[in-house]
Amino acid sequence: MCKDLMVVFLGAPGAGKGTQSDVIADKMSMAHLSSGDLFRKAVARGDELGKIVESYMKSGALVPDEITTKTVLTHMNNEGIRRAILDGFPRTISQAESLDKALEADGRKLDAVILIDVPDEELIRRLASRWVCRECQTPYNYPDGPQGARCKCGGELFQRADDKRETVANRLDVYQKNTAPLIEYYEKQGKLIRVSGVGDITEISHRITDALVEL
Ligand code: AP5
Repeated sequence: MCKDLMVVFLGAPGAGKGTQSDVIADKMSMAHLSSGDLFRKAVARGDELGKIVESYMKSGALVPDEITTKTVLTHMNNEGIRRAILDGFPRTISQAESLDKALEADGRKLDAVILIDVPDEELIRRLASRWVCRECQTPYNYPDGPQGARCKCGGELFQRADDKRETVANRLDVYQKNTAPLIEYYEKQGKLIRVSGVGDITEISHRITDALVEL
């Protein structure tokens, strides 16, 4: 049985957190817990949570801390998750403190935070050309649209509502204001590992795996 391992993937929208989480989770037998995916599923179901979070997501704003923390921590508990990549959570100091407290109360801790670093021009380019599978959420990069291409699982590809240019600008501002302070928060805890997120996807996965096998 694999040992407990909790890792956060931190980075701006479009940095490749979701892409790398899928690859590394598979390689290292970890769960991939994406707060954005939990919320998108709730919106698709049209349940109470989905109705609350939809307008925040459409505008690129953060869902309030209390709702986000409760959603993610409840999911972690219900699924008995002890070895996972947290993709997109935490995103504020308050969420990070709640996560630290929840793990500590269970006699656990966060092992590492991988900061995936990508310049803004590249982030904007990637988000404008991102297409996502409706079935399995795998992201693809098609600058000229998918032109009939489908996901490797056969699913249809669509463009996320929050990948519109105005919303992307807002998401990048929100990242700088609310999420970038986490870099210092985790640096102080000695948990931050910076990885360049520019280059080939496989090359970046190797950089991350090399950092994680040391843990
Ligand atoms: P969320 O789903 O978490 O979105 P995000 O952080 O904005 O992240 P993205 O999914 O846009 O980017 P990514 O870093 O995963 O990049 P990806 O791998 O897809 O959150 C959505 C919304 O939910 C938020 O705005 C907020 O409203 C709410 N929310 C979620 N969590 C919350 C929280 N904790 N608190 C409050 N609110 C929360 O890659 C992007 C594109 O680039 C893809 O097309 C991909 O194919 C391509 N790509 C990836 N790597 C490379 C590479 N190396 N080279 C070229 N292209 C690449």
